[in-house]
Amino acid sequence: MPSPVRVALPDGRGYDVAFAPLAETPRLLAEAGLRPGPCLLVTDAHVGPRYLGGLVSALEEGGWTPRARMIPPGEASKGTASLGALYDWALAPPEGHPVPDRQTPVLALGGGVVGDLAGFFAATLLRGLPLVHLPTTLVAQADSAIGGKTGVNHPEGKNLIGAFHQPRLVVADPATLQTLPEREWTSGLAEVVKAALIADADFFDWQEATWEAVSAREPEAVAHLVRRAVAIKAEVVAEDERESGRRGTLNFGHTFGHALERVGGYGACTHGEAVAVGMRAALYLSSLLSPALDRARADALVARLPVPPAVADLPLNALLAAMHHDKKRAEGRLRFVVLDRIGAARLTSEASARQVETAWAFALGAVRASARAA
Ligand SMILES: NC(=O)c1ccc[n+]([C@@H]2O[C@H](COP(=O)([O-])OP(=O)(O)OC[C@H]3O[C@@H](n4cnc5c(N)ncnc54)[C@H](O)[C@@H]3O)[C@@H](O)[C@H]2O)c1
Repeated sequence: MPSPVRVALPDGRGYDVAFAPLAETPRLLAEAGLRPGPCLLVTDAHVGPRYLGGLVSALEEGGWTPRARMIPPGEASKGTASLGALYDWALAPPEGHPVPDRQTPVLALGGGVVGDLAGFFAATLLRGLPLVHLPTTLVAQADSAIGGKTGVNHPEGKNLIGAFHQPRLVVADPATLQTLPEREWTSGLAEVVKAALIADADFFDWQEATWEAVSAREPEAVAHLVRRAVAIKAEVVAEDERESGRRGTLNFGHTFGHALERVGGYGACTHGEAVAVGMRAALYLSSLLSPALDRARADALVARLPVPPAVADLPLNALLAAMHHDKKRAEGRLRFVVLDRIGAARLTSEASARQVETAWAFALGAVRASARAA
């Protein structure tokens, strides 16, 4: 197993991302200073049947008394209704179980949906319970379990209700990634390619050279892939915990991607697929602003990420309008992450409307061309 990655935050709030079988969670909890007692476990109905039994047995052997709650899988569970149901469940325990106190940890076993929901639940119940992430998707292991962003969706938009609440520990078991549906795996890969593009040229070289092993989820390749992505996220978060600067570069491809999700309707494509198309547009835009970028090389790797061809048929006008909807939220400026070269990103509000339109036209055309070639 790879060595742990430390998320180095000030004021004693740093924590480890450990790579270990889920059954080792009790030992890792002890090392993180969490003493056995009652704990609340949240998972979903795809993950629970696979991994909950083994985890609960290990916790019980380690002296813990877990109480588990299984939510329906999918983004629809990341809302205020599910959150309310979690509070009700936690605060009215069955006989023989104590009401949680501020020492009771919340363990989030699952993908980003479980992590964001259970994370916000932990951030708010009794003004904050210790949070432990046990991520089981590539998105969650490489991205969402690290950095402390928690929250739920509102009908007006995604992630509009939330809080920063850093976990005390993250345990990523790479073996769990073997049971992920293929589409979830490739969606997660989009975020990992993004991490290399914005921060680590060597990691980009490695991905290019190892793509077949990565696509086939060979365990050694998976372990390296996840550890490198975690190290990048940890470094960015340690430098800019509250996203006042560099953390914003993690949104590479997302300004375009969000527009695709909004226009296509959430569900037409996964977030990762939208980001994959968004990165093709963002790379094109980057090349207009930073001619030194080897766009063709970067684009060739992004183009290996499968996306549903139908997204290329979304009307350009609607996509541009959707971007401006996001702009309103961002105080009137449309901000983009652009690359100066592979491995070096910056934020800019200098892109002209014409450049943005050209970037869209390129990305949609490229998706159509890939679909024809397939
Ligand atoms: N907090 C952050 O910083 C951050 C960052 C990125 C994304 N997110 C959020 O994460 C969410 C997306 O996360 P996701 O992509 O993990 O989606 P998800 O949690 O919906 O999981 C994807 C699917 O895979 C299933 N699954 C999970 N683990 C499995 C496993 N090991 N084997 C088989 N099936 C498994 C789930 O049940 C679900 O059906 C979004 O809500 C997004 O907003 C948050």
